[in-house]
Amino acid sequence: MKQKALTIRDLCVSFQTSAGPLRAVRHVDLDLYRGETLAIVGESGSGKSVTVKTIMGILSNNQRIDSGSILYHSVEDETDTIDLSKLSRREMRRKINGTHIAMVFQDPMTSLDPTMTIGMQLMEGMIYHLKLTKAQARQRAIALLEMVGITDAQKRMKNYPHQLSGGMRQRVVIAIAISCNPDILICDEPTTALDVTIQAKILELIQDIQKKTGISVVFITHDLGVVAKVADYVAVMYAGRIVEKGTVQDIFYDPRHPYTWGLMASMPDIHADSSQRLYTIPGTPPNMLNLPQGDPFAPRNAYALEADFVEEPPIFQISETHSAATWLLDSRAPHVEPPQAIKARIGRKEISHG
Ligand SMILES: Nc1ncnc2c1ncn2[C@@H]1O[C@H](COP(=O)(O)OP(=O)(O)OP(=O)(O)O)[C@@H](O)[C@H]1O
Ligand SMILES: [Mg+2]
Repeated sequence: MKQKALTIRDLCVSFQTSAGPLRAVRHVDLDLYRGETLAIVGESGSGKSVTVKTIMGILSNNQRIDSGSILYHSVEDETDTIDLSKLSRREMRRKINGTHIAMVFQDPMTSLDPTMTIGMQLMEGMIYHLKLTKAQARQRAIALLEMVGITDAQKRMKNYPHQLSGGMRQRVVIAIAISCNPDILICDEPTTALDVTIQAKILELIQDIQKKTGISVVFITHDLGVVAKVADYVAVMYAGRIVEKGTVQDIFYDPRHPYTWGLMASMPDIHADSSQRLYTIPGTPPNMLNLPQGDPFAPRNAYALEADFVEEPPIFQISETHSAATWLLDSRAPHVEPPQAIKARIGRKEISHG
């Protein structure tokens, strides 16, 4: 039996803005299992970062959890849980952040202190959380730098962040994240600012750490190619909601939501005629302050039904692992097949090879 690490139910998060409430996360259900990787994918503004920052208890002053629960399961006994949504920021910092759940942020520069050596930044948390002596922390810091593939670790300890390349800084950030042995690692687009080969190396590093430590990973990305490489489970987000969710096989071989089809069609296809331009989903994401009536994706959806402009679709369960929020799955809906380009790729069984 798989063990649970995190169970999120009906999470709703909003921001109070001068233009009224902005509902950034709407009724999100997510499950993370031990040793597995959950990828959250979706366009800019869909609520990916807000979701994971809420898990970490990083809330801005105008932000509120309107409803729902975020259950953290203890490593020893999964029935022993803490609802993170009920903890204060202080309790989160003392009991959870770093030691149980750690996060790697979108931009490595924002999580490193430019005025402090990377050695000190690595040692700090271990001295505080793990109660190591300075000498012990130093030794472990060097070992961690080696583990994340930084050569000359002893010397690098004395470097400041600006003395490192972008890829190296990201490795340091990952080393800091895992330094206090968390059992969950959240990576918010850790590779977008990096060039493609370095991106691939960072992905490999995270997978390598996962193999060695059995850590559970939540991985946020825009890029379905990355999802195919790293994920066990995939959640597709649109306008604050999870519109399709399933195992990586469910999503890549049996996608049901037109938005997922759109994301897939936008992936480079090595077999496609190279004179053809890459597909992009028409239109833009909705204004989150003023969501349209019905399904917020409807105005961009070539497969939209009349019902989509009236009422937001419920979540339809396709199998035990797979669900999607589209009226196309309603028994009254006409039968619609995914676009030919997607079916061809599924037929060639190559989508999931990234
Ligand atoms: N402090 C804030 N105040 C008001 N609105 C906010 C705040 N932070 C985020 N939002 C809004 O919440 C929504 C979700 O933002 P979020 O950062 O989660 O998107 P994302 O999916 O991570 O996008 P990206 O891929 O660009 O990182 C957006 O509409 C954003 O404008
Ligand atoms: Mg984000």
